[in-house]
Formats: sequence, C-alpha cells, structure tokens
Amino acid sequence: MREEHNSIGANMVESGEDTASGVIPAFKRLMIRAGLNARATVGEAAQSLADACGARREKIAHDKPSQSSQNFTSSQSFTDLSAYRVILKHREIGRLFRIANPFYRCHDARKGAETWIEGRSYVNFASYDYLGLNQHPAVAAAAKAAIDRFGTSVSASRIVAGERPLHRALESALADFYGVEAAVAFVSGHATNVSTIGTLMTPDDLIIYDDLSHNSVIVGCKLSRATALAFRHNDTDALERLLQEHRHLHKRALIVVEGLYSMDGDVADLPRLVALKEKYGAWLMVDEAHALGVLGAHGRGSAEHFGIDPNRVDIWMGTLSKTLASCGGYIAGKQELIDILKYQAPGLVYSVGLSPPLAAAASAALAVLKAAPERVARVQANGKLFLSRARAAGLDTGTSEGPSIVSVIVGDLITAGKIGERLLARGLNVLPIIYPAVPLKAARFRFFITSEHSAKQIAEAVAIMRELLHGSRARNKAA
Ligand SMILES: Cc1ncc(COP(=O)(O)O)c(C=O)c1O
Repeated sequence: MREEHNSIGANMVESGEDTASGVIPAFKRLMIRAGLNARATVGEAAQSLADACGARREKIAHDKPSQSSQNFTSSQSFTDLSAYRVILKHREIGRLFRIANPFYRCHDARKGAETWIEGRSYVNFASYDYLGLNQHPAVAAAAKAAIDRFGTSVSASRIVAGERPLHRALESALADFYGVEAAVAFVSGHATNVSTIGTLMTPDDLIIYDDLSHNSVIVGCKLSRATALAFRHNDTDALERLLQEHRHLHKRALIVVEGLYSMDGDVADLPRLVALKEKYGAWLMVDEAHALGVLGAHGRGSAEHFGIDPNRVDIWMGTLSKTLASCGGYIAGKQELIDILKYQAPGLVYSVGLSPPLAAAASAALAVLKAAPERVARVQANGKLFLSRARAAGLDTGTSEGPSIVSVIVGDLITAGKIGERLLARGLNVLPIIYPAVPLKAARFRFFITSEHSAKQIAEAVAIMRELLHGSRARNKAA
C-alpha cells in the first residue's frame, strides 16, 4: 500500500482560498448554531459555513425564480435547472473544504483487485467484479470470437433486426441457472427494471418497494403510474402493514426487493417475502444485481441462499454488469412473462439487442461461475473476513452482513470527503456515498469485496480505515 500523499487528489482541488485546519469543527459549530440537523440540505450547510467564514464563493441561484428568471429567455438556460444547482452546491463544498472530486475517476487498466489511476496502482474496493471474471481469459476469448463472427453490434432491436445464437444461448443458460422456464436479456440493467415494472404495472395497481431500492425501480414505478409505496428497509412487518392497508384497493400488486442490498450489504428475508406475497396475492420481484455469483453455495443467488424453490418468486431480475463481467440486464421467470416483455417492453422492442461481444462475455462468465464454485466460496470468505475485522476494529458497519459489500459509516460528508482523499493517498480506491443518497450525517464508504482480494489487502484496508477514522475523530475533538 502506498504511504505517500497522492498528488492526483491534491491537483484536483479547485481552489485553496480556505485554510482547512479548524474548518471541520467550525462547520459543526455552525451546523448547531444554524439549527441545521440531518434534514438540512448540503446547500444550507455550505451556505452557513461560507457566510460565517467569509469565504469567497460563487453566487448560487435561489430555489425561488427571480423576476428576471421568469422571462422566457432565462428560463431556457440549463444553469437555472435545480439539477445543475445541486452540482454547484457539491462543488462549492469541495472548494470550501479542499476536497477533490472523487467521482468519475479515470482508470488506465485493471488487474484483479488492483487498478491503475493516472499511472499509479491502487487496491480497488470500488468494483462489482465480484468473482474477478473481467480478467478471465475464457471471457475475453469469447468476446473476441463473437466480434470475429458477428461484428460489434446487432444494429437494431431484435424484434426487427433479428437475434443471434448468442442471445438465445445466454437466455437459456440464465433460465437454466435460475431453474425457471425462460429469460430475456436487455442492453442495460437499469432499463431492465424500468421497462419491466413500467410494462407490467398500470395506474390501477399497487407497487410496494423497499426504501433502499435502486433508482431504476423508482423510475419504473413512475413510468407505470401505479400507486407506489416504500416500506422501511428490510422491515417485512412494515411491508405487511402496507399490504393490509392497501392491497384490497388495487387490482394487482407487486413487491420489489433486492436480494443483496448494494447500499448496506444486507440480505432480504426471502422466506418471509414469499410467504407475504402468497398471503396477499402479489407478485414478488427480486433484483439480484449483487446477489448473483455471491449468495448461495453455487452463486445462484437468494433462492439458493435460503433453499427456496425459485419458481415461488415471480420475477427474477439481474444485471450482466457485475458478476458476469459484461453489460446489460435480464429477467427470468415464467414463459408468458418473458413473452410479454419481448413484445411489449419498450427497453426491448425499441432498443438495440445486446452487442455480440457482450452477450458472449456474459455467457462465458456464467459458464465459469457454474464450473468454479470455489470463486463463490472465496468472495464469501473474503466478505466475512472484511466484516469481522472491521467490527473488531470498532468500525460502524451498520447492517452489513458481509458477502461482498461492507459499508463503513463515517459521519458527515466533509469527514467522508477528507477520509476519501486520505484513503486514495494510502493506495485504496474506495468511494464515499453522501447526502442525499444517505442521511447528511451517515456518509459511508462502500467496500466491494471480490474473490480476488487477498487476506493481506483486506487486513491492511481495515487497518488504514481505522487509523484514518480515529485520527479524524481525535483531530475534531482537539480542535
Ligand atoms: C440493485 C441494482 N439494480 C439495477 C442496477 C442497474 O444495473 P446496470 O448498472 O447494469 O445498468 C444496479 C446498478 O448498480 C443495481 O445496483
């Protein structure tokens, strides 16, 4: 691991107009003085901090339209959009606290659990390549052979431009792996959720989804115009209360959960979910984006993990981009479900088919997964090792259960930004999750652990995290 300071992070700091020392405690005092709490926005925090520090700052447009912005010319400016103002607010906080932007880092190359950023190597805890298949020679060879035979694109949607044997092979291998009748592959995991939920559900229907569901589920709910209600994360009692209250008011109902949650690294209670969906007459959709290849002795996911018949779940969803080292998404389930999607889902009917190398890579990765369950055992063991060491080191791992994703909660977003830079300087690439994705004071680092990390890399990462976090607490106390 690298000990020296990382020059990349330092170079990316946009302005040095504020001295960082003493700023974090000042920030905290200001938060209290200004009556800001967990519901305060980043913009409010930055505003009070900047005002009190007298720091020079760009003028940020207020939420209420000014008189001049009510005329037609200015309302057409992209800079007026609240989406842009949020970006400015985050940039401003970065400038005030001299924190480099951790997002959109450009990686030069990757090898197993290591990566290169601007010519320097890092131990990588920010990749979903859970079984290291992005490095597997059989996966790369399959993609190259597919290009040689079919080219790089299928040019249009499969319904009109036709499909290739690669699509059929992938879909039947996925259905077989899940032990269900059929499967269909989309070009994007995100589009899979949006299109599937948007196609199946109507304004007469009810969707109840876990509060920590992926954005693609939320967008799918909006598209469907069904009544969509969130239940408290992983709280099946809360789910049942919503079913009792609302199920009878709607024609059809859908429950959506993730098998293994990408945000907190915990596992959905599939047996209870299946019991509830059967009791209340609802469909159950399980997003296995992070569970495939990780849960169950053979990596078959949540059903194998809990020993549940996969046919008791109506809609299995997953992505090709994580364990399967490709790009795209899939739905697996009954033949009639797949027929509906193939002829009605906009993400299939009006979008291009998977490119040949991506379909071939996913099939080859699935074949390696089937043939090499020892990779699954390794990722599970590595996840457990990380979690037990992190807990022993006194890190706050929230509800993480360990298989492949461990979140370490560090506090406010400024602390997260500072620690993120120090992690990079110490040779670790791991990204923070900050407000508004999580509450203002619950910023966290998500460590994605793969079968390819060594025990030494895991032990060192936990030790560095502990050192930085304790150092940051001691500095804040002393100031
Ligand atoms: C739970 C979950 N579902 C769906 C997706 C979307 O998949 P993709 O990135 O392959 O489009 C993701 C991506 O991170 C995810 O975490």
